Amino acid sequence: MSEWWKEAVVYQIYPRSFYDSNGDGFGDLQGIIQKLDYIKNLGADVIWLCPVFDSPQDDNGYDISDYRNMYEKFGTNEDMFQLIDEVHRRGMKIIMDLVVNHTSDEHIWFVESSKSKDNPYRDYYFWRDPAPDGSEPNNWGSIFSGSAWTFNEKTGQYYLHYFSKKQPDLNWENEAVRREVYDVMRFWMDKGIDGWRMDVIGSISKHVDFPSYETKDSRRYIVGQYHSNGPRLHEFIQEMNREVLSRYDCMTVGEANGSDIEEAKKYTDASRRELNMIFTFEHMDIDTDQHSPNGKWQLKPFDPIALKKTLTRWQTALMNAGWNSLYFENHDQPRVISRWGNDRHLRKQCAKAFATVLHGMKGTPFIYQGEEIGMVNSDFPIEMYDDLEIKNAYRDLVIENKTMSEADFLKAAATKGRDHARTPMQWNAGKHAGFTAGEPWLAVNPRYKEINVKESLNDQDSVFYYYQKLIQLRKQYKIIVYGDYQLLLKENPQIFAYIRTYQGETLLVVVNLSEETAVFDAPAELLGEQWNVLLSNYSRQESDMKSICLQPYEAVMCISSSKETIS
Ligand code: NOJ
Repeated sequence: MSEWWKEAVVYQIYPRSFYDSNGDGFGDLQGIIQKLDYIKNLGADVIWLCPVFDSPQDDNGYDISDYRNMYEKFGTNEDMFQLIDEVHRRGMKIIMDLVVNHTSDEHIWFVESSKSKDNPYRDYYFWRDPAPDGSEPNNWGSIFSGSAWTFNEKTGQYYLHYFSKKQPDLNWENEAVRREVYDVMRFWMDKGIDGWRMDVIGSISKHVDFPSYETKDSRRYIVGQYHSNGPRLHEFIQEMNREVLSRYDCMTVGEANGSDIEEAKKYTDASRRELNMIFTFEHMDIDTDQHSPNGKWQLKPFDPIALKKTLTRWQTALMNAGWNSLYFENHDQPRVISRWGNDRHLRKQCAKAFATVLHGMKGTPFIYQGEEIGMVNSDFPIEMYDDLEIKNAYRDLVIENKTMSEADFLKAAATKGRDHARTPMQWNAGKHAGFTAGEPWLAVNPRYKEINVKESLNDQDSVFYYYQKLIQLRKQYKIIVYGDYQLLLKENPQIFAYIRTYQGETLLVVVNLSEETAVFDAPAELLGEQWNVLLSNYSRQESDMKSICLQPYEAVMCISSSKETIS
């Protein structure tokens, strides 16, 4: 069934790093308004705004202290209402970040909850007695290192937090909590927003008997059956859908940590009335050694075959039931070309190659600010990192537990540290890349003189115009939105190639994901086809794709010319 959110392309904004309109070094809502024409020019239809609500900013706004008001450095509610209007005026839509697995510890609910055991808000969070030896109630770990429990002296109990101790987990078992959340959602949807990205939604239902993970060692566990997909997860989401989502024409994408394909189908099969799509993590974890106690920081080399296999499993499984989101970057996942590609002499080709792989697939593509100009990871000494995840992991793994050498950790942080996605947007070659007239909250990437929006807009061959073209093609060819997917050359270690088929047409996507040339030999079933090249990052024009030698990071997208194209 056709739906606007299936045909849309989303542009994600990390507001504190997007554009600073008032010189305080911190991006803001007025800054976003000033740059809306840029996003419109790119061709995106929907903007996803990372959290802008009031917050002590322990986790950059993913710790909300007031769901109905803006954090003052971002602006006022009037600014937010103006942003919604300005987005709509340009024919675009806007979705916000719903962070309701946890609040800030400075939210009034938690302030009240920690006052006494009989406070009316006590049950808004998870409080448990210490174990008989006084230690934490179980061995669950926090995703930001250390225990998932913090002791509260005043009331003699521990509270649960999957993230930092300033992000206590809400108790969704409590109906009053769920009602509060639905009220907040209605509040913003009545103000005109068009949907939600739902933060760690896969964790809202807990195993309330809080069983410890079985371990052979003393380590705490952060990934496992108890941290996500709890027993009432889908019941809660269906209730949310009934109470709120079904009453609006909206788009929803859940961050579904710990979710496999079966789980994804439950979330996104339209007949179950839950969410439109989820963010899966499997393809982003292909460079992580999952069995290591060092978690995401234990790097594994990038393997294109692993990427093909993982993305293909998801493409195939959700082909006829549910829907995929498509992403390589976001505010937690740094620059893909630095992580898996070449961000130096092949930067532009490489950025276009990864873009082609993703934007040729079935699903709703998400572009993270700066991805469209080929931004790269930065260059930080450890003391310049700002993110609490990196700082805590460094303390835990390098200083306290010594499970990683400093050199290995720094290498991992240079590849996967979240701050690399959070450096200010590079608008021009001027001071601080034109992001701010003041001092930026996080250092601008030193390569801003070479990589910036102004340069991209002046160069007809830029990554920006390539993205613009990819988006235009998606609008023009229904096959890109709705066509079936089939992987080609499964075991080829360099080439990611696939076809899409729809109403008698075939779309062919061929991408060399390596720094060497690679030979593409078309499989037998495609030999009779003649092709129209729709897009290429090396000006390839031939219509015969039987056997071609692909240049490093060369990407080609073409459509069978035997049938009339549908536009
Ligand atoms: C996922 C968000 O994307 C991330 O930035 C945040 O730290 C955690 N959830 C906690 O809210």
